[in-house]
Order: sequence, then C-alpha cells, then structure tokens
Amino acid sequence: MGSMPQPDVNERLAAILSICQKMNSERDLGALLDLIAREATSLLDCDRASIFLLDAERNELWSKVALGSDEILRFDARRGIAGTTALTGATINVRDAYSDPRFYTGIDDRTGYRTRNLLAVAMRNQHGEIVGAFEVLNKRVGVFTARDEESLAALASHAAGAIETAQLIGELKRNHEELEEQNAHLRREVESRYSTHGIIGGGQRIQQVVRLIERIRDSVVNVLITGESGTGKELVAKAIHYNSPRAKRPFVALNCAALPETLAESELFGIEKGVATGVEKRVGHFEKATGGTLFLDEIGDLSLTAQAKMLRVLQERVVERVGGRAPIAVDVRVLAATNKDLEAEIAKGTFREDLYYRIKVIHIQTPPLRDIREEIPLLATHFLREYCKETSHAALEFSPAVLRRLASAPWPGNVRQLRNEVMRLAACARGSLIDEDDLLFGLPPSSARERTAAAAAPAPVRLESLKKATEELERRMIAEALLSTKNNQQQAARILGLSRQGLINKMKRYSLGG
Ligand SMILES: Nc1ncnc2c1ncn2[C@@H]1O[C@H](COP(=O)(O)OP(=O)(O)OP(=O)(O)O)[C@@H](O)[C@H]1O
Ligand SMILES: [Mg+2]
Repeated sequence: MGSMPQPDVNERLAAILSICQKMNSERDLGALLDLIAREATSLLDCDRASIFLLDAERNELWSKVALGSDEILRFDARRGIAGTTALTGATINVRDAYSDPRFYTGIDDRTGYRTRNLLAVAMRNQHGEIVGAFEVLNKRVGVFTARDEESLAALASHAAGAIETAQLIGELKRNHEELEEQNAHLRREVESRYSTHGIIGGGQRIQQVVRLIERIRDSVVNVLITGESGTGKELVAKAIHYNSPRAKRPFVALNCAALPETLAESELFGIEKGVATGVEKRVGHFEKATGGTLFLDEIGDLSLTAQAKMLRVLQERVVERVGGRAPIAVDVRVLAATNKDLEAEIAKGTFREDLYYRIKVIHIQTPPLRDIREEIPLLATHFLREYCKETSHAALEFSPAVLRRLASAPWPGNVRQLRNEVMRLAACARGSLIDEDDLLFGLPPSSARERTAAAAAPAPVRLESLKKATEELERRMIAEALLSTKNNQQQAARILGLSRQGLINKMKRYSLGG
C-alpha cells in the first residue's frame, strides 16, 4: 500500500494511452472497431475481442467484429454475458463459459469457435449512459485477472467516446451526402426547366427568342427583356442564366417596383455595420449575385436616384456599400425586364436615356399571347402535362373543341393566365378528357347554350374593331372574375393572371368597381 506502482502497471497504462491516441485519429467507425478489438487482444493477451453496441431503438446489441468477419451480428439486448453487462453495467468475469447459465452458445455454434473464458465490461458515454459492452475471449494463459478487468474498463471508457464521435461523424457524412445528392437533383431539375427547352413554342416569334438566347449565352452583355405582363420575361431571364457558363452561380432576382426609394441603395449595394445605430452589415444584391446573374425586374419602376447609382455600377463595374470606404469590384451579369414602354418614360423624363442604352445592349421582346395564337394548343397541352406530372395525376387531354376555344380567347394576362386556366381546368376535370362542358367563363361562347346566355348578357356592344372587341372581352372577363370572387381583387387577379396592381389599373381603365 502507498508503494510505487509495479512496473507492469506502468507499462499497461502506457499501452492504454497509446491505444487512445490511435483511437482518436480514426474517424471511420468500422475501422475504429477493428482497431480497438485488435489492440485489446494484444493488451490483454487473449484470443479475441468484441464490441457490442446497443441499438436502443430496437433493443438489440450489434457487433461488427464478433465473428472476425465483415458480417454484422445482432441479437436481443438481454441475451448472454454481453447482454447482462449492457443491461446492468456490471463487469462479468467468467472462468468457464459453458458452465455459466448466462452464457449464450449461439455465437460459438455459428462460428465453430470455442469460448473457454471471457470478460465483459460496460461501455458508457460521457453522460454515464450504457452504450454497449466490451468483451474479450480466451485468455492465452490462465484466466482473466482483476488487473485485466481494470485495463479493459479503462480501455472501454475511452473507446465509448471515440466510437460516439465516429458514429456522429458518419451520420453527418451521410446527411451531407444525402443533401449533396438532393441538391444535384434539384439543380438538374432547375436547369432543365430553365434551359431554352423550357420555353415552349415552335413558331417564328418564339424560336427567334430561343435562338437569341443561345447566341448570347457565352457573353456577359446586358440584356433588356420587354413584354406585357405574363409573357415570359422572367422565364427568358432564367433561360439566359441557366444556359450560360454562370449557371452554377446564383441567379438573384430583384423586383425594383417593390423597392422603396430610401432602401434602394442599401438593397442594391449593401451597407456597412454601424452606419446608423443598430444597423447590421448587409450584403447587397449585386454582391449576392457575384459570378452569377442579377435580374432587375420591373426596372422601369426604379427611382431616378437609384437609376443614377445603377448607371455608375454598370459603367464602372464596382459597387460601394453604404458607409463603405472602398469600392468593391463586381462580376455580375445584369438582365433587366419591364412591361413599361421605356422610350415613353424617357420622353416623360422618368427614365434615364443613358441607362436605357446601357441595359439595352441586347433587346428581347416577348410577344403577347394574342400575337402568337398558333402556339396556344402547344402551350396548353404542355401545361396540362406539367400539371399531371406535378400532381401525379393520370394523363389528361383537351378535346379539339376546347383547344380551339382556348386558341381564340383574348388572354389579357398572356401565358400566365393561360397556364392558370389550364391548371384550373385540370383540377376540375371529371374524366380523362376535358371537353367544352368543363369550360367556365371568359372564353368566347360557341355552344348554343352559351350563345343564348351571352345574348342575354347585359349591353351587347357593336364590335367595330378588333381592339374594341378585345377590350370588351377583357372588361367582361374582369367583371366576371370580380363577381365570382365576390370582389376579392387578389383572387380575381390570380384567376386572370394579372398582378394585383395590373388588375387595379385595368379596373380603372374600364371604370369597374373599386
Ligand atoms: N413560351 C413559354 N413557354 C412556357 N411557359 C411560358 C412561356 N411564356 C411564359 N410562360 C410561363 O408563364 C408564366 C409567366 O411567365 P413570367 O413570370 O416569366 O412572365 P413575366 O413576363 O415575367 O410577367 P410579369 O411582367 O407579370 O412579371 C410562367 O409560369 C412561365 O413559365
Ligand atoms: Mg416577371
């Protein structure tokens, strides 16, 4: 007592320490379990070592190395010596396995191995909870001693920590791989959706747009996309981005109309921390789009002050954060869109001419749907398939009469409205064929029943010109949408494929409700 530890105790401690160091540098669970088992057999001078880990969910013990092979062994967590140890935490030292009633002979039976004696200790995590059992078999000479019990217990307490870390790392790795996989899948999906193939239309007007997109995909020239609401301006912008070498970098869209004048500068260019009390550093949209594409939607609504700042960025290719000291170089391709007539805005003095020419290096115009009616059957069928695919709905089809009626409707909300209408028809479809009975309002009447209904409609006007006729239809569609939604402008706008503001403008134009 109180004397110096015996030399072989020191040796054992040193051996355990060196095993611990090896364990800590092994991050792969399988390799770690092999390593611990190997080291334990040499430390305790025995034949075999097994680590049984507790699978609390299934109340089972499992072991990778119990059989000395890659096979994984699982059994009831209450079974055998290892089970007893895992259940009670007790250290169990058995001198003659086959005379101990707790000994489970099943493993020997399967492997043909003969267990003479064994020692099992519990493995606990940092919180003291039992996570498994560590078992060594067949001491080479004699039986396991009290000192062996101590050594195995010391080894087990370190092993538990290393195993837990390896398990966590394995889990993180698997999660990470799963996310990567999902991410790659989504990226492929987005890319195929916004590749030029996502732009439907076989006619000249659409094909011109597609060819232009393909021609400019490798350059960084600024592009202005103009067209009425719902004609596919954003679709074109995404097609340009996802077809360009910048496809793997961000596509950042900024709606200039929703940008209050006071915030425009910090939103676009960012702000340094502490410019005013409580101000946190914020990265601007230009920086967010680094290496990628910045899509300035509704650029016609940018204030004159913001226009001036924007012009400077486009000229000098640097941004300055609000409160920042040094300009930051930006590598961003700028695409802009508007449904306003920018030349008229220039004439009114609300849009800068120099900015206009900066952004309009290439000009793409998306045609209103009424000018490309020949595309309507193709578009409608495409949206119908898209609906079926996205909702896992059985295949649906339009009757030829419905397609004809769709092709002759006015579509003030353009392709977006057509898409919404197709989605609505698909959602209401009763069979696999959508026929005329499924059509509701808005489309020019053709059946006898509807003709009578239309004749009874208020104030049939003489339609002097196509423009008048279109306007009249538009007015009626809006009135009906408002009626069917009980004047809910948000809903009515959605049905018509218009923005809420777009609807309000049209309501004003036609002096409807309010
Ligand atoms: N040629 C086309 N092929 C397939 N889908 C189209 C086509 N044109 C438009 N779309 C679809 O119509 C909808 C409206 O398009 P998008 O949002 O690009 O219009 P927009 O011109 O940006 O409208 P707004 O001015 O109201 O913002 C989208 O669902 C888009 O995918
Ligand atoms: Mg848009």
